[in-house]
Amino acid sequence: MSQEWSAPDTAALSKIDSTVPHSARIWNYWLGGKDNYPVDHEAGDAFIKIFPGITDLARDSRAFLGRAVRHLAGAAGIRQFLDIGTGLPTADNTHDIAQRVAPTARVVYVDNDPLVLAHAHALLTSTPEGVTDYIDADLHDPDLVLREAAKTLDLSQPVALTLMQVSGHIADYDQARAIVGTLMGELPPGSYLAFNDSVDTHQGNAEATRLYNETGAAAYYLRSPQQLAGFFDGLDLLEPGVVPLADWRPDPGAAPSQGEVIALGGVARKP
Ligand SMILES: C[S@@+](CC[C@H](N)C(=O)[O-])C[C@H]1O[C@@H](n2cnc3c(N)ncnc32)[C@H](O)[C@@H]1O
Repeated sequence: MSQEWSAPDTAALSKIDSTVPHSARIWNYWLGGKDNYPVDHEAGDAFIKIFPGITDLARDSRAFLGRAVRHLAGAAGIRQFLDIGTGLPTADNTHDIAQRVAPTARVVYVDNDPLVLAHAHALLTSTPEGVTDYIDADLHDPDLVLREAAKTLDLSQPVALTLMQVSGHIADYDQARAIVGTLMGELPPGSYLAFNDSVDTHQGNAEATRLYNETGAAAYYLRSPQQLAGFFDGLDLLEPGVVPLADWRPDPGAAPSQGEVIALGGVARKP
């Protein structure tokens, strides 16, 4: 599963289905990227028509990831990251942020989208002192993810698990909780969970998601705020807790969240 890259992977490219929209590609479209197809524009635009704030959410999720990883690689002293549901390479990927703070950081990316695999070489641009790796695997199989990640990360040492806007791809809430439990369960004390996902309380997002789920794309399931907070059970939440993304340790001068809550996120330490 774990592979080395120097160029776009043609075998992966041949597995790409450009007839149905894909989560990673639509997300890339919302972020202003170019790695997407007309079918993704159509589904992405239909979503925007009902809920224009979705593009802000995509940016907020990236910004939250950035602030969380900066804190983890900085003050928290974490040197290993496991980023599942990575998405297509973008401006500031997890290793770019972590290695800017700590050049020796080791980062393993996991996604199950063939286009992300095809572009994975752009994620493997580690500092010489650090390491990056990419695993083509499904979050539904956390044991496989851990086995593969252990080839690059030392799982006896703390790891930050980042799950940004991906747990909603697991249809069943209890299964999603169990998967996160399995992943965190295999990481040692002092490890962290950095997590964000969308809530079901925002009418526009809920309606746009309902229609999105009829497009043939892998469906997305919104959770209640209480359910999202439940992903942190058994962990020590850092201040300010599970909050709207813009309100998690904002950069100086950044605007606080406004209006209805769309997504919640937090960072917590395994005791
Ligand atoms: C909404 S995007 C979020 C991307 C990124 N984490 C961010 O916040 O910018 C969801 C990502 O999760 C990936 N994904 C969806 N289901 C997955 C699964 N079962 N296993 C691994 N990755 C998955 C998609 O391919 C996509 O790249």
